[in-house]
Amino acid sequence: MRVVFLGPPGSGKGTQAERLSAILRISKISTGDALRESIKRGDELGRKAKVYVEKGELVPDDIILALVEQLIDEAGGRFLLDGFPRNLNQAKSLDEYLSGRDWSLDRVIYLRVDRGEIVNRLSSRRVCSQCGAVYNLIYNPPTVEGRCDKCGGALEQRRDDTEDVILRRLDVYERETAPLIAYYAERGLVEEIDGTGAVEEVFERIRRALE
Ligand code: AP5
Repeated sequence: MRVVFLGPPGSGKGTQAERLSAILRISKISTGDALRESIKRGDELGRKAKVYVEKGELVPDDIILALVEQLIDEAGGRFLLDGFPRNLNQAKSLDEYLSGRDWSLDRVIYLRVDRGEIVNRLSSRRVCSQCGAVYNLIYNPPTVEGRCDKCGGALEQRRDDTEDVILRRLDVYERETAPLIAYYAERGLVEEIDGTGAVEEVFERIRRALE
């Protein structure tokens, strides 16, 4: 199965993609996670991407396309894409790349969440600095303040989760990424999911849509 998760920052793409990929036993490919790992390592990709990620701008397409093609190849054709494609050029490049391998997308899950809720969720998100587990101070707090339930690592705030960068990411989403909903809807691929409510409720909606 080949699935794309589409939705504004903070709509729960990462949270839901993690669950779905475990159940379907397919690879989750998150461009955001891959970029943050590279930035943390300080490798060439990370050095090129850092300034864009921290400002909430899109990383240039040539850098992203090379990264995604490598990750898709490693996944062996069964994957769930979280955070890619993010503009029309990336979507067209993905189509070309997949058709070159006689593959196509099965479904696009579009998670709909309004702007006010997004700012709330992202300003209260915390991430484990060691294992990457995601928490939320309002909706899903850790048992011990500031510590990861899974590995005890220190929780930190993402550098792009400050209010001004969140607002810039939302603008970039509206301008560059939201048009992809119509692009995929024309091909009958889009499942629009209400992304509000408990994580389990949202997951159940996604699961039913994929049946
Ligand atoms: P990326 O990491 O992809 O960030 P994003 O799209 O902004 O999405 P987020 O990770 O912020 O949110 P999410 O939808 O995954 O929500 P989550 O599940 O964490 O990209 C970061 C940057 O990398 C970009 O800005 C760009 O610079 C660059 N980049 C990445 N891909 C690129 C590409 N293709 N091209 C160019 N540049 C690229 O949930 C958010 C919070 O809400 C959490 O605290 C969570 O616990 C909570 N939550 C989740 N679900 C619920 C719920 N149902 N109820 C209450 N709280 C919930």
